[in-house]
Amino acid sequence: MLVLSKLSRSLGILCCLALVAGTRLRGAQSESALAPKQEFFELKVRPLLAKNCFACHTDAKMGGLQLNTRENLLKGGKRGPAVVPGEPESSLLIRAVNHTDPKLEMPPPGKLTSDEISILELWVKDGAIWGKPSNATAGASSEYVISPEQRAFWSFQPVRVPPIPKVTDRSWIRSPIDAFILAKLEAQGLKPVRPAAKTTLIRRASLDLIGLPPAPEQVDDFVRDKSPNAFEKVVDRLLESPHYGERWGRYWLDVARYSDAQLTAEGDRREVYWRTWFLCAQSQRRVSRRSCGCNRSRFPGTHCGLCAVS
Ligand code: HEC
Repeated sequence: MLVLSKLSRSLGILCCLALVAGTRLRGAQSESALAPKQEFFELKVRPLLAKNCFACHTDAKMGGLQLNTRENLLKGGKRGPAVVPGEPESSLLIRAVNHTDPKLEMPPPGKLTSDEISILELWVKDGAIWGKPSNATAGASSEYVISPEQRAFWSFQPVRVPPIPKVTDRSWIRSPIDAFILAKLEAQGLKPVRPAAKTTLIRRASLDLIGLPPAPEQVDDFVRDKSPNAFEKVVDRLLESPHYGERWGRYWLDVARYSDAQLTAEGDRREVYWRTWFLCAQSQRRVSRRSCGCNRSRFPGTHCGLCAVS
């Protein structure tokens, strides 16, 4: 459980960073009335694409295809244009949603309803008119809109409990997560390798979680420990280690474009306070006067505002 809660915490932090780093809110449009074809797109087509396609065809660009603008639709993916305006029968997108070609059936989770397919066909037949461009001049209005494409960004998706995949070799499964790995292996006709030796396992876990190899006595302890939860104890120890925060916090600091180089400037040391706070938070250590880098006795007259210094 500790593993899961740590992972979900890391994901939470990543999501916050994605919010900071990845979202651009765009100015709302000022015109009110939409032309009927644009209105059809906004009311019927865009929500359908947002619900069923954007998760894989905006930022993720699967198959090289982005369904976020008319230009990208016409440019298409690796197979060429996704749509020929006016000709649903020759449009790849329509063929994909109709499951015409067994090698390209979209969306992957299951077929759209026949009503939804008709909407897309009608839209393509009518010239595949896109809605209003969503990159209106910033500042044109004080209101901000989050477009459906932005809303489909992966980190804003609600956490869902996915169905556990069915597998043939059930005896290999120890936790439901294993089923996801095994299902992929079985789909590729592969078999899992044999379990690793204890000395290998502790080395892998240690390098993975804290970025450092285990000490010889930690390896000996683990090899001697015959209890069924011996490995769990190792993982718990590693997750409790302050090095866990240093190792994994580094990735999130990269995402936030953190750089130590900024610290060379005389005087301004706020970044280092932030880094220390961040790494402490990753390690779930209480950020206190002692653990926070902005300790007043070290840097008199300043503190980062994030720690417990009053
Ligand atoms: C779960 C992810 C996912 C979703 C959702 C999804 N697609 Fe795809 N799509 C893919 C992948 C992966 C490929 C590449 C498949 C291949 O090349 O065999 C692809 C390829 C395509 C292509 C062909 C691109 C090319 O040029 O090769 C079209 C057209 C397409 N998708 C349309 C759609 C439409 C329309 C929807 C929504 C109704 C949709 N997809 C939803 C994953 C997805």
